Amino acid sequence: MTIVAKDLVWGVRQKTIVDSVSLTVAKGETLGLIGPNGSGKSSLLRLLAGLKQPQSGQVEILGQDIARVPRRALARQVAFVQQDTTTDTNLSVRDVVRLGRTPHRSALSGWTETDRAVVLAALERVNMNGHIAQGWQTLSGGERQRVHIARALAQTPQVMFLDEPTNHLDIHHQIEILRVIRDLELTSVIALHDLNLAAMFCDRIVVLDGGTVRACGTPEAVLTQQLLRDVFKVEADVECSLTGSPHIRFRAQ
Ligand SMILES: Nc1ncnc2c1ncn2[C@@H]1O[C@H](COP(=O)(O)OP(=O)(O)OP(=O)(O)O)[C@@H](O)[C@H]1O
Ligand SMILES: [Mg+2]
Repeated sequence: MTIVAKDLVWGVRQKTIVDSVSLTVAKGETLGLIGPNGSGKSSLLRLLAGLKQPQSGQVEILGQDIARVPRRALARQVAFVQQDTTTDTNLSVRDVVRLGRTPHRSALSGWTETDRAVVLAALERVNMNGHIAQGWQTLSGGERQRVHIARALAQTPQVMFLDEPTNHLDIHHQIEILRVIRDLELTSVIALHDLNLAAMFCDRIVVLDGGTVRACGTPEAVLTQQLLRDVFKVEADVECSLTGSPHIRFRAQ
């Protein structure tokens, strides 16, 4: 297993926000994290990536307890694309993606041919190589999101956590980005709101509700009419698509 989380608990004051969550993610697997607003997806992702310390419980990535791995070493293996993050700078697109190389470079070394090639390949993957010299501030919302993903790709991680990476993206780029993530030899955990996209691109899905795992399994096992009603408070018909993944048709009433 590439990621093993055991009994993670985290909260603020009296409120438990992530409540005894355990999960595993196999090498190369794409795990979807779904759940209503406030169910704890972002909090759990931050715990899994080591950006927050749990009050109890443990996360192992690639066989190591992440609480004991130095940050820089962790950053060579794990990348995180935050929800709605901003980069408040005058940097160019190239400079922002270059930041992804930081954990791989020593203070004294210059830019290597590998660094340049990785940055360019990351920009090509998200179809942003035509904007390489453009100022970050002048990008559209969807373009910024794609550059953030390129920065994470430039880290050449083995594990990637993405918090609603399809925010601001048009449908073509939503599908394109999820395809890129699925097809890379990466182990990834992705928080998503679009349940049909989660069904299309995730090998397994974890459903969070009030900080606890309500269901975990393949999209067809998890995305049932009953679960959609109980957890998401919506009425829907779940059909089997031609590819075998479930397709949800929401009802207006
Ligand atoms: N530092 C904090 N202090 C107080 N409450 C917090 C803190 N961090 C998170 N919360 C609360 O914990 C709950 C879970 O938040 P979280 O951001 O993990 O949810 P989410 O599932 O990612 O939601 P969304 O779908 O809206 O992104 C929310 O009710 C939020 O207000
Ligand atoms: Mg969130």
